[in-house]
Amino acid sequence: MCGIVGYLGKKQASQVLLHGLERLEYRGYDSSGVAVVDEAGDIQVRKKEGRVAALRQEIQENPAQGQIGISHTRWATHGEPSDTNAHPHLDRSGKLALVHNGVIENYLQLRDRLAQDGHEFRSETDTEVLAHLIGTFYDGSDEADGQLRLVGAVREALAQVVGTYGIGVIHEDIPDFMVGARLGSPLVVGVGKTEKFLASDVGAIVSHTQEAIYLSDREIVLLKPDEISIETLEGDLADYEVSTVDFTPEQAEKGNFPHYMLKEIHEQPVSIENAFRGRLADSQASAVLGGLNLTPRELRDVDRIVLCGCGTALHAAMVGEYMIESLARIPVEVEVASEFRYRNPPLDKNTVVFVISQSGETIDTLAALREGQRKGHRVLGLVNSVGSTIARESDGGSYLHSGPEIGVAATKSFTSQVTVLALLALLLGRMRHLSVDYGQKMLAEIRELPKKVEQIINQSEAIRRIAVKYNEAPAMLFLGRQFNYATALEGALKMKEISYIFASGHASAELKHGVIALVSEEVPSVFIMPKDSVYEKNVSTLEEVKARKGPTIAITTEGNSELERIADEVIYIPECHETLNPILSVVPLQLLSYHFAVERGCDVDKPRNLAKSVTVE
Ligand code: M6R
Repeated sequence: MCGIVGYLGKKQASQVLLHGLERLEYRGYDSSGVAVVDEAGDIQVRKKEGRVAALRQEIQENPAQGQIGISHTRWATHGEPSDTNAHPHLDRSGKLALVHNGVIENYLQLRDRLAQDGHEFRSETDTEVLAHLIGTFYDGSDEADGQLRLVGAVREALAQVVGTYGIGVIHEDIPDFMVGARLGSPLVVGVGKTEKFLASDVGAIVSHTQEAIYLSDREIVLLKPDEISIETLEGDLADYEVSTVDFTPEQAEKGNFPHYMLKEIHEQPVSIENAFRGRLADSQASAVLGGLNLTPRELRDVDRIVLCGCGTALHAAMVGEYMIESLARIPVEVEVASEFRYRNPPLDKNTVVFVISQSGETIDTLAALREGQRKGHRVLGLVNSVGSTIARESDGGSYLHSGPEIGVAATKSFTSQVTVLALLALLLGRMRHLSVDYGQKMLAEIRELPKKVEQIINQSEAIRRIAVKYNEAPAMLFLGRQFNYATALEGALKMKEISYIFASGHASAELKHGVIALVSEEVPSVFIMPKDSVYEKNVSTLEEVKARKGPTIAITTEGNSELERIADEVIYIPECHETLNPILSVVPLQLLSYHFAVERGCDVDKPRNLAKSVTVE
């Protein structure tokens, strides 16, 4: 939530910053702003409510020229979206500018104290309080001394802060110098020869440099165009490593697709293949997940698994539960990360906790990871974003290798998460009682997935026609059983999130326990009902909806034409192993929600009120 970009070098800072903000808009899009130190040595601030495009327009009309600057795209927490509440914020002198991602929890106490000392605040934000607070500790005079004093002021102010932050700070008296710091909100430094970048995510800077340093919590970075120094909040020098970004600038672009979401749906044949590439062990009829950092002995001793995540990652975890219990016979619990972090579930020494996250920055999932570790458990991550906080703090795990996912609605990350969970289930199963024959069959089925997903994507136009027909629906139901129970939840989440149609997902048989009251001629029900062990049960439920005049859309296995006689619409998916079915059945649901959203004129990639990476509680 919220995106930060900073630049120091020889280019026009505002252009670099605007480009970076456009890449970070998925983190929030309520307002945006830049602060640049101009040629005369004065701070110039431009801020605008709404999308970065509005800020770009503002800067075109009212340029801010300079070679050092900070910028921000906001997801509002404290104070409504407005020009005034947009970042950057200035201190009392108007010479120090700050951008912030996170929440200053004790901002009211700090604000009251500063107000008593005569500080006047223009905005309702917690961030402006931090800018003023840093300003009170800064009394730099000459340039060299000024750098030390600014860092000292940041350090002293942060010592008084309760909450989370990723910040960038500049001061007009010290041109060519920037301070960044993080606690709980991501921050990365982009390394160029004579230029440096500060950003919430490498996506903002990857078109300028592939070299990045991921800051850790409680670190402060001191940046000059040709110099980097990283210290701890306590003032000790910190070691750092320069990593190479694992994707190209082109991968983070929309290409010829109208939306990132559609591009990412289409990327799934490749992203699924990337999730299993190099991890299928034919000679053992099993999978290899080396990054788990567990010996075969330790893997055999695992007697309970906890899977944690939020939103779509939570739904992937639910599929994982069914897979692992069915293939490996190990009890699995799925925990909503935000609940797990505050409750106290009993965990024994052979329990392994997995946290699942696309971004690797979701605050509740990160807190669940830390809670698990605090209790002495091994916590492993299934993460997409290389170098993210969860990836770095977990005790091991597996990357998804999906490439950047920019559309706010998670698509390819879900299918990759489920693919990796299938590999985990197979690995654990083969260490217990699964036969060689079964393992080989699973490997063959996994290899077939990309081709089958491609076949489903090719039906996009037929799915669009269904969306056109029902796009005025006031609400929708999504129903599935067993492996597709979680898929139903995921289908409903996608529909709500991007088309703003109220949708709810249920285990099909739950219909009769209350949900059926919602069935009417206006409310379509989507049934995920491949020809599996519960197919006949799903048919009965569909008939019950039909009997009450509810429109029905069925997703079923190719060749099963009998449904055309009962359901109003039928979408076919190729046959596959029951365990892997959600990887296929979710794809028509993604396309359905996409086309509904487009038909209804919604902003597919940036749905209202949302941000891709939820870094505040
Ligand atoms: O980055 P994460 O996987 O940790 O994100 C978790 C959720 O915020 C995310 O899946 C969210 O539910 C998606 N926007 C749903 O499409």
